[in-house]
Amino acid sequence: MKLSDNKATLSFSNGHAPIELPVYSGNIGPDVIDIRKLYGQSGMFTYDPGFLSTASCQSAITFIDGDKGELLYRGYPIEQLATQCDYMETCHLLLYGNLPGASAKAAFAKNVKYHTMVNEQMQFFLRGFRRDAHPMAIMTGLVGALSAFYHDSTDINNAEHREIAAIRLIAKMPTLVAMAYKYSVGQPFMYPKNELSYAGNFLHMMFATPCEPYVVNPVIERAIDRIFTLHADHEQNASTSTVRLCGSSGTNPFAAIAAGVACLWGPAHGGANEACLQMLEEIQASGGISKVGEFMNQVKDKNSNVKLMGFGHRVYKNYDPRATLMQETCNEVLEALGLQDDPLFKLAKALEKIALEDDYFVSRKLYPNVDFYSGIVQRAIGIPVKLFTGIFALARTAGWIAQLNEMISDPEYKIGRPRQLFTGSPRRDVLPLESR
Ligand code: CMC
Repeated sequence: MKLSDNKATLSFSNGHAPIELPVYSGNIGPDVIDIRKLYGQSGMFTYDPGFLSTASCQSAITFIDGDKGELLYRGYPIEQLATQCDYMETCHLLLYGNLPGASAKAAFAKNVKYHTMVNEQMQFFLRGFRRDAHPMAIMTGLVGALSAFYHDSTDINNAEHREIAAIRLIAKMPTLVAMAYKYSVGQPFMYPKNELSYAGNFLHMMFATPCEPYVVNPVIERAIDRIFTLHADHEQNASTSTVRLCGSSGTNPFAAIAAGVACLWGPAHGGANEACLQMLEEIQASGGISKVGEFMNQVKDKNSNVKLMGFGHRVYKNYDPRATLMQETCNEVLEALGLQDDPLFKLAKALEKIALEDDYFVSRKLYPNVDFYSGIVQRAIGIPVKLFTGIFALARTAGWIAQLNEMISDPEYKIGRPRQLFTGSPRRDVLPLESR
């Protein structure tokens, strides 16, 4: 970051002398005011719940221009990556900063493939869960448990350990997600097949059985690869910030990523695709397109607490570029599977059309996000709704680990320790039990 000529001056009405604060510029995006010395100089903290105006770190990985609806991984637009590269290239880009050439890509993909199996003991750990456990509960446990199995890659301060942990996590996430699925339906776990692509192998572990050969459908394989690419990173969102905060204590990478998985589970974040599909199914069950108007009135009613899931974003105040790409994939998959008349897809398009013309959504700059269409694609592929967020976690692991490793390599990195505005009781004395 570069020190800007611009400076910010903070003045106070209580007679405290004004404080001059340095301003830094990134390569693109808003400048930041450096408040690190503010407490020492003024005895005051800044107050920013939800981080509406706070940059928590410097990062060179992902950039979002929310007003333009632009998403760049290491400078490359998501539209180009999603149409000209695959997920393995995207992972390489996020981790190492450059798009690999053919031989580097092959070496990276081979390295990932050689780590796709998980320790055989993991299945006994998995078998401890109830069969109807939510896959995200299972994933939180399994990912954290990796640190109990791979002791040679748990030292976050060792660059070699971080590298092996990154490859292991990217390689093993599809295996774990597929195992969680197979366990829920009572089918045998399928071992990875290294001759397949990353996405193809995931489909194989999900849908193959030992009884008959499974042939990967190339349209579905491309759709899965695109879902992975679109979800691979998204700068300092809640789960990524959780991974960074958790990792800032020096904990091992598997534990830090497990924290990210737990955070992603929430319906305002990664759980939105599951919530969005449930919403579409409920509207469909209550009467379909004819009930859209009634549903929209509930969404706009401030007392109802109903949200149009898959709409709105903290950063995008324009169309989420991933939503456009996901809608394209949705068309391709439904056509390939002969589901062009899928009622939920029609319903989603009707909701989108109404929302984009309605003043409630227009004035609040609420547009479809990636999750508005990703659920329809996954459902068409045969992925159960409960597994959607697990697939998001699988894809986001590349971003989480890239962000974690970037933080650990940053000389300015410190343990994260937010401050607070205390609103509880001042000091008081404990009364004897009989007087309380
Ligand atoms: N439906 C109806 N109203 C909404 C919605 C929505 N989906 N999203 C925001 N609003 C309203 C909100 O009620 C508020 O209205 P008002 O100003 O009258 O109080 C205004 O828009 C601003 O919303 P906000 O809650 O202050 O915005 P935020 O930046 O805190 O929240 C969000 C962003 C994503 C949590 C929110 O838009 C939301 O809950 N959307 C639905 C869930 C969803 O689709 N999440 C997936 C995000 S993309 C995947 C990911 O990156 O994790």
